[in-house]
Amino acid sequence: MTDAKSRYGAADVRYVAAFQPESAPARLRLALAMADTWWNPPDPERMTVLDIGCGRGLSACLLAAANPGWDVIGLDLQPVHIEEAREVARQGGIDNARFIEADLAELTEVNSPDLLPELDVVICHGVWSWVPDPVRDGIVRMLKSRLKPGGVILLGYNALPGYADTLHFQRLVDEAARSLPGDDAQRGLAAIEAIVALREQAPLYLPEPRVLEHIVNAARNAPAYMVHEWLTSFWRPAYHADVARALVPARLEYGGTARPAGSMPELQLNPEQRAALAAAPAGIARETLLDTFLARRFRTDIFIRGRRPGGRALLGPTMLALTAPADRTKIEIVTPSGTLELKPPQRDALLEALSDGPKTIAELADLPACATLNHIDIALMLVESQAAEPLWRAPRHDPADNARLARCCDSLLRHFAPEASAMRAPIGVPIAAMGSALPVGASELALCGALLSGLPPDPVVLSRHLARPQGDEDARARAETGIAQVLEGLLPTWRAMGILP
Ligand SMILES: C[S@@+](CC[C@H](N)C(=O)[O-])C[C@H]1O[C@@H](n2cnc3c(N)ncnc32)[C@H](O)[C@@H]1O
Repeated sequence: MTDAKSRYGAADVRYVAAFQPESAPARLRLALAMADTWWNPPDPERMTVLDIGCGRGLSACLLAAANPGWDVIGLDLQPVHIEEAREVARQGGIDNARFIEADLAELTEVNSPDLLPELDVVICHGVWSWVPDPVRDGIVRMLKSRLKPGGVILLGYNALPGYADTLHFQRLVDEAARSLPGDDAQRGLAAIEAIVALREQAPLYLPEPRVLEHIVNAARNAPAYMVHEWLTSFWRPAYHADVARALVPARLEYGGTARPAGSMPELQLNPEQRAALAAAPAGIARETLLDTFLARRFRTDIFIRGRRPGGRALLGPTMLALTAPADRTKIEIVTPSGTLELKPPQRDALLEALSDGPKTIAELADLPACATLNHIDIALMLVESQAAEPLWRAPRHDPADNARLARCCDSLLRHFAPEASAMRAPIGVPIAAMGSALPVGASELALCGALLSGLPPDPVVLSRHLARPQGDEDARARAETGIAQVLEGLLPTWRAMGILP
């Protein structure tokens, strides 16, 4: 076992490149506001953000590109990740992103200030439930030393009891993989397939077929993801209550969830379940109790250093922009008791108002048709149905900004497009108004990059620019039609976000 492998089971395997939309600062602020937690950084243009376990740096690069006044730092154990992240940033002209190779377990309250400035936001996604105690302790020491009062951390982790059905499965896979031949990916896949085959004999302690099918498909499509997800003896999904307790030394309190709709008793539970919840013994933490009822396998908790109530007041001024043309947009959320859908006239009034350009939640609530909707209803329905995104700053059309973002898209395409296309996984296009990125596939990203570089939204021009030179006339015509269709979906958002005049 290498030194690094004693800290992280997949330390020798390069991870897949992944962007976490929940890390968008505007989404964090909105989610916290919905939980009535106050988080409103005094200078939104000057923030310091750290992504721990940043992998290949995609999220950090997108945040840095969208916020040129920020200092964005990625930290990871694996040199292969850090080297690539630095290259993506350098080639993309993203000079406010920097990457540090370090082992979180070695961070102390004394050495953290040598390595890191004071932080406004920390992203820790997909790390906590895969690492041993010394790494978790290092994370807490670093947070205690570096997170500013009022600073926040987004902590995404495999949660209990939601993940309990895979505890025994993971144990068997990890043990089986040790005796199998091949590299980590080959051993992992063979182990998973061997354990899944046990399902035929109706074992008591394997997940249901639907869950196993999902695991096998993901393992086949993305072997690196599978190795990081399953092949480690440190793998431990965590109870929210235990995570909250572990963060107490860093003076962190639970502020809310980055996925509010999936966590709201009013949406997710029937009246009898809500009554049972209210009657449960007071000693059990509310979130742990809620997790007994909700299908939350992965939690995206936001903790804050010093929680102040009053965040709901920030909902009214929050600006929302449409992410797709109004006529293709449904405003609906799926809940266990059925689909909750905004119907006309409320839906039409909201979409019509937003088609004109971004609006604040207060402006939308003032629409006559929306008199019965409060600020939370509007935020929840529009954002959680992915009809709209909260903005971090007012959109402005600036060709110099666009040229900078185009260079970033170019670098992302060069590094991540083949892999993203093969896995059918999104990359992301940085958008200044969002202070973050919209997840898009590789071909959409190429199109976005071309528009950002100043090409007109004309399918003929864009297809000449993007299509391979050897394409014949038929291929070119197909490309033009495809581009025209994508543009139709993209342009309203593009204009709302200020990217096109
Ligand atoms: C499952 S990946 C998640 C990557 C990314 N945050 C995401 O969610 O897509 C976990 C990452 O944490 C890093 N990591 C694990 N242990 C670490 C440690 N002790 N110090 C620093 N980084 C670590 C790994 O190298 C890997 O890139």
